[in-house]
Amino acid sequence: MRHLIISDIHANLFALQAVLRDCEGTYDDVWFLGDVVGYGPHPNECVEQLGDLNCLAIAGNHDWATLGRLDAGSFNPDARHVLLWTQSVLSKGNMQVLDELEVSTVTEEHFTLVHGSPRHPIWEYVLHPQVAQANFDHFDTRYCLVGHTHAPVIFDEGDGNESTCEARLPAFNSGPQVLPDSRLIINPGSVGQPRDGDPRASYGILDTDSLTFEPRRAPYPVAQTQALMEQFGFPARLIIRLAFGR
Ligand SMILES: [Fe+2]
Repeated sequence: MRHLIISDIHANLFALQAVLRDCEGTYDDVWFLGDVVGYGPHPNECVEQLGDLNCLAIAGNHDWATLGRLDAGSFNPDARHVLLWTQSVLSKGNMQVLDELEVSTVTEEHFTLVHGSPRHPIWEYVLHPQVAQANFDHFDTRYCLVGHTHAPVIFDEGDGNESTCEARLPAFNSGPQVLPDSRLIINPGSVGQPRDGDPRASYGILDTDSLTFEPRRAPYPVAQTQALMEQFGFPARLIIRLAFGR
């Protein structure tokens, strides 16, 4: 099976549409790693698009905050501004969709899916090898897929004898790469708000038959998303950062 792996859409419909166009016909189903809302201007449309994709989806911290399960005060002022706006515009039906998202899951092919980390699925950021290393003890499968940091990376435990795992930056748009036998934590990056210095939408194609992962980037009309954010009075910093992927 070929799975489209997406995370952190953050209500950026134009980015999501660009990804779906970019990989059309190259996947069988979709695994989504959380944060469909927050930051962006299209929360209802993105929740509905996810529903149309009939994907395996889990919850992120912004999804939980929108439901009121996390304190809005724990978000920075810019994120909180859009969080409150999202709560005011999201339909009851779409709230219900967020409410039904699992916190983590293990797929039939034995991949663990979480938003943050296997240790703390909603909140923990796996940004550094030390944090990744500690998390290898918190899932039972060989491979784990995470989002949340908005930074694509693969953490490789190697033979398990090193004190710290290795962090590999993906080579984008250069074809499928065979996954090693070692245990991995794979982050496909963010569709709707990349933060690795590349503004293009980030995602991956995972083939569980050939055991390959293809990291991909797709350009999208950033200015169109920014124009809507401006129209809705979103904080300037959030609007500007999309152009830089920071
Ligand atoms: Fe996120």
